Order: sequence, then structure tokens, then C-alpha cells
Amino acid sequence: MPIVRGFSFLTDYRKLVLAGIASLGFIMAQPARAAYTLDVPFVPTPYEVVDRMLAIAQVGPDDHVIDLGSGDGRIAIAAVRKYGARSALGVDLNPERVAEARANAESAGVSDKVEFREADLFETDFSSATVLTMYLLPDVNLALRDTILKLAPGTRVVSHAFDMDEWEADVYERVDGRSVLMWVVPARVEGRWKLEGPDGVMQLDLQQQFQQISGTAGTAQATALPVSGSLNGAAITLVVGEGDSARTFTGNVQGDSMLVAPAGSMDTNWKGSRL
Ligand SMILES: C[S@@+](CC[C@H](N)C(=O)[O-])C[C@H]1O[C@@H](n2cnc3c(N)ncnc32)[C@H](O)[C@@H]1O
Repeated sequence: MPIVRGFSFLTDYRKLVLAGIASLGFIMAQPARAAYTLDVPFVPTPYEVVDRMLAIAQVGPDDHVIDLGSGDGRIAIAAVRKYGARSALGVDLNPERVAEARANAESAGVSDKVEFREADLFETDFSSATVLTMYLLPDVNLALRDTILKLAPGTRVVSHAFDMDEWEADVYERVDGRSVLMWVVPARVEGRWKLEGPDGVMQLDLQQQFQQISGTAGTAQATALPVSGSLNGAAITLVVGEGDSARTFTGNVQGDSMLVAPAGSMDTNWKGSRL
């Protein structure tokens, strides 16, 4: 029998058991407390807005749509049922919402293509999304922004209501008095590049602020021509120089290389490589 200082086993044991029963009753009388804290309450997106979100993102059969904070599942379900996405995933921390969303997917006949996962969106790897949808809050959008910017270039991100601060949306629409915003994740081009074409070689020093590009170009003839430009996913536009002598190049970035052509030319005959 264990000896505990100041503890008379026979009398104190009975007291302990009674106290145990009393506190068990007290615990059971309390409403069940959630073992998680939601970052955003459940407020469903109206169906007209769901439609515009998916239409603006041009969701189609090549897409895997991930809805962060999926609520009753309406966005993920519509992505597959109405827009023909190949698959969709909804992530929600509230098990009641997940159960409801699964039941809704079942009734809609799409449970083979739509998964609902009970998980914290901040601990979810959503890098497989080709389209990411969100109806969250401004600070949650901002907390996700760096991770979103690391997604594959060209990934479309659609938010109901809230922006991402100085990362300006590529598309902004009002739908029934609500805002719908869409961004296309830009390729990452910041740094030094060599661009070689039929009539010369340039060294580009590029800075990038989200989808906007600035910088300088050095050629055999000039040392610091101004460069401006923009990105739409992997599609790049660069303007080298100013005024009448400015040259515009358009093309695509793929990792550490780019293929561009002077405006008006069909040949992407300028090859860029990161230095
Ligand atoms: C405003 S509702 C949006 C529901 C749905 N996406 C829609 O637009 O109809 C936000 C959802 O996020 C969920 N949520 C809140 N914090 C979360 C977190 N940290 N991880 C996953 N889901 C979360 C809530 O349970 C809620 O269902």
C-alpha cells in the first residue's frame, strides 16, 4: 500500500473517491469545449459569389481546387460538379463542418472527387492546388501570403471579400455587393540574368514586387538602361530602355530560364538564364 504523507488510506481514500465522482459529474455537466480555436467563424459564401469565384479563376478539368476553411463544402463541391474540376479538397478545423461538407458531397454525387479534411489550414500543405479559394479574414490572408507566393507560378488564388494588402489583385469584381479578388501567383525572377538574342547580349538586374518588375539592363552599348515589366504567372513582359528606343519583350519564365521575343515577333529567340 503506498504511503503518502498526511494521508490516512481508509478514511481519505473514501473522500477521494467521493470527490472524484463529484468532479466527474461536474465535468460531464459542462458543455463540451472545442479542442481547437477557429481563426474565422463559419459564414457561407452566397452561391452567386461561389459561381463568380470559380468562373473568374476559369476552373476546368485540369484543376485541383483547394478551399481553405471549407465550411459546408459549397466551393469545393461546385468546383467539381459545375466547373468540372478534376478534384477538390476542402480543409476545415471544425469537425461539424467537415461532416456536413462530406454529407453535401455525397448528396451531390461527387464524393469520389472531393475530399474534406479536418485540419488546420496553417498546417496544411496546399502546394498541389492549381486554384486556391478562400473566404477568411484580412490577417489570415496576410499570414498565408508568403506561402501562397511560393506556389507554382500560374496558380490562381481567389478570395471572397478580403485582399492581400500591397499584393494587388490581378482581377477585382463586385458581385451582389461583395468583393471577389483573384491573383495569379507570379514566377520568381528577382536577381541577375543574362539575356542573349540574335542582335546582342544583355545583363539584367531585376527587382520584383509581387507581379511588378523593375531594374536595369547593361548592354555592350549602354550600362544601365531602365527595365520595367510585369508577370502574369509565368508569362513575362519586359520593357528595356525608355522613349523611342525602348524594346518590349514578351515570353515565359521557367525556373532559372526564360524565352522571350521582341514585341511583334513570333520567335521566342531571346534566351535568358539566371546568373
Ligand atoms: C467564412 S467561413 C468560409 C466557408 C466556405 N469557404 C465558404 O466560403 O462558404 C470560414 C471557415 O473556416 C474555418 N476555419 C477557421 N479557422 C480555421 C483554421 N485555422 N483551419 C481550418 N479551417 C478554419 C471555419 O470553421 C469556417 O468553416
